[in-house]
Amino acid sequence: MKLAIVGATGLVGEQILKVLDERNFHFDELLLVASPRSAGKKFSYKGKEYTVVTAEQAIEEKPDIAIFSAGGGTSLEYAPKFAEAGSTVIDNSSAWRMDPSKKLIVPEVNAKSLTKEDKIIANPNCSTIQMIVAIGPLHEKYTIKRIVVSTYQSVTGSGKAAVDQLFDERAGKEANMVYPHQIDLNVLPHIDVFQDNGYTKEEMKMINETKKILEDDTVKVTATTVRIPTVGGHSESVNIEFEKEFDEDELRQILADSEGIIVQDDPLNNVYPMPLTSHNRDETFVGRIRRDETQDKTVNMWIVADNLRKGAATNTVQIAEYLVSSGLV
Ligand code: A2P
Repeated sequence: MKLAIVGATGLVGEQILKVLDERNFHFDELLLVASPRSAGKKFSYKGKEYTVVTAEQAIEEKPDIAIFSAGGGTSLEYAPKFAEAGSTVIDNSSAWRMDPSKKLIVPEVNAKSLTKEDKIIANPNCSTIQMIVAIGPLHEKYTIKRIVVSTYQSVTGSGKAAVDQLFDERAGKEANMVYPHQIDLNVLPHIDVFQDNGYTKEEMKMINETKKILEDDTVKVTATTVRIPTVGGHSESVNIEFEKEFDEDELRQILADSEGIIVQDDPLNNVYPMPLTSHNRDETFVGRIRRDETQDKTVNMWIVADNLRKGAATNTVQIAEYLVSSGLV
């Protein structure tokens, strides 16, 4: 097993290396890939020293799996070249997600759709992944009609420079502005660029990716995505209307029994999911589960996950694990 991490020096790349180590992902050879700016730099991982290489150099090595987290432009340019060299690419960017010929995978929900023919596999947007983990089993049981979601997203979703902006502002230093406004002590109803319809690209990702993963265009989704000054993970307030009637205890049990979900729902004892307690965890946490009393067959819940882990690194590593365990690479 020859494994390449493209974007190994970035925030998500760093998490991918951590998750691979924690989950004991087996590889015989590891290629750490970054931009030509970083090529040649030494990098120490698991007691071994690696020299960072460029994408071009890594392609020559024909890795079995290449996990990409180096931005959309790099993926568009290099993923097909890796695939042509025989690698299976798992891509974290938005470059291939809505391409009808590429699969969009959240392993707990739709890994079984993968075949040997899938040479470029897309990892969904971080906010979509954690919502899908929670709603996938509910859609199977009660058939989702409509979702209204509002997100509370961590600055880590915007890369290292955004984390620096937050902490520089907090320290009273002059900050390099990643966001159009101060993020410390503030809330920005703005993630990614605004589209002609008034929604942001992030909101449209949640809407379109959800339908693609559930393989159901009839599911209605509307979203408001918001950046808040936190680092531990993304939170989501989700209102779900079902086709079928549900029993609250049964719904809670379905979530508790589902892979990758931890139910934290004991509000009287102040137990509910939070970014602080979800940080560095691979699971998706669900709480504040309660019937919407204004509408039939509708439930409210609060979903939290570490966006760099389940929202990015962990999900890609789980896809890689599935490819290996199913003999697809
Ligand atoms: P580098 O560190 O050399 O810039 P983040 O989103 O946290 O900023 O990380 C982006 C990652 O993508 C970094 O590891 C970055 O490497 C990498 N990257 C950027 N451009 C390329 C490229 N053309 N080829 C390979 N990796 C790239």
